[in-house]
Amino acid sequence: MRPVKVGICGLGTVGGGTFNVLKRNAAEIARRAGRDIEVEQIAARHLNPACELGDTPVTEDVFALVDNPEIDIIVELIGGYGVARDVVMRAIANGKHVVTANKALIAVHGNEIFKAASEKGVMVAFEASVAGGIPIIKALREGLAANRINWVAGIINGTGNFILTEMRDKGRAFEDVLAEAQALGYAEADPAFDVEGIDAAHKLTILASIAFGIPLQFDKAYTEGITRLTTDDVNYAEALGYRIKHLGVARRTETGVELRVHPTLIPEDRLIANVNGVMNAVMVHGDAVGPTLYYGAGAGAEPTASAVVADIIDVVRTLTTDPNNRVPHLAFQANSLSDLPV
Ligand code: HSE
Repeated sequence: MRPVKVGICGLGTVGGGTFNVLKRNAAEIARRAGRDIEVEQIAARHLNPACELGDTPVTEDVFALVDNPEIDIIVELIGGYGVARDVVMRAIANGKHVVTANKALIAVHGNEIFKAASEKGVMVAFEASVAGGIPIIKALREGLAANRINWVAGIINGTGNFILTEMRDKGRAFEDVLAEAQALGYAEADPAFDVEGIDAAHKLTILASIAFGIPLQFDKAYTEGITRLTTDDVNYAEALGYRIKHLGVARRTETGVELRVHPTLIPEDRLIANVNGVMNAVMVHGDAVGPTLYYGAGAGAEPTASAVVADIIDVVRTLTTDPNNRVPHLAFQANSLSDLPV
C-alpha cells in the first residue's frame, strides 16, 4: 500500500521534534498506524540544527506545500492565528487532513475550522494543543467517554510552572527564569501569552469544549496570569504551608460552566502542589470514575511531538474507516456555556 504522505509546516521546536520522532520511530509508528508514514515535504524559513533532514525537500513557500497533491496530512506547527489559520483553512479546502499543536488557533477559530472540516469530510486533530505530551484530549474523548464530567482543573502552562518552581526553589527572578524558558523552547513566540494566562485560557477553552460538549468560547474565560507575583509572594505562601500554582479550572455551576485561569494557593501536601518545572498535570472529575489525574511534560520538542505524532497515527488509522463513523470534532450538547444543563 502507498505510504501516507505528511507535510510539516514549521520546523521550530515542535516541528523539529515531530520530524525526529517520525524518523526515529518509523517502524513502530508504521506498525501501529497500519501504514508507512513519510514526510513528503517541509515548509520552513529556517532549518533546525536538531534535524538531519537528509533528502527531505524543504520549501519556504508554505502554500506550495499545502497545495502539493502528493500530501495527505498537513501538520501545522507554525503557531499563531495568522498564516496558520490560512494554512489550515486552505488545507481543508484542498481536502487534506490536518494535525495541529496550535491552541490559540483552535481556541479562537476552532468552531469555524471544525465546521469547514466536517463539510469537507476531513479530520482536524489537535491533541498537542493542550498539555504537551499528556494525552488529555484522548482521555476525555475516549477513556472518560462514559462520564458526565463535573470539572477539569490543572496546571496547563509549562513555562509558567517552570517560572514559579524556579522562583520558589532557587529564589530566581521572574525575568531570568522566563528568559531560560524561552531558550529551552518552552515559551510562546510572544511570552506574554504564557505569563498573562492567555495560553492557559486557550487550553482550558479547548478542554471545556470537549469535556462539556460546548462550542469553543475563549472570550468567556476569566484570564489572569502570574506577572504580578513576586518571590516574596512565593516565599510567604511556602511559609504558610502552601504552593502558588497557576491553574485552569472549568466546572459546572448552577448556571452553566465557569472557565477561569489564575494563580491559586494549594496546600503543599496535595499532588498538584508538587508538580514542578515544565511538567503539567490535569485533574478530571467524572460522575462515574470520580477524580482522575494526568501528568507529564507540558512543553518541549519531543513531548509535544509525541502528541502530534499520535494524532498523525490516529488520522492514518481513521483514513481506512467509514467516514460516517468518525469521532466528531466536537459533539455539541449546548450552544453556549450558559446553555449547558447542569
Ligand atoms: N508555551 C507553552 C507552555 C507551550 O509553556 O505550556 C506548550 O503549549
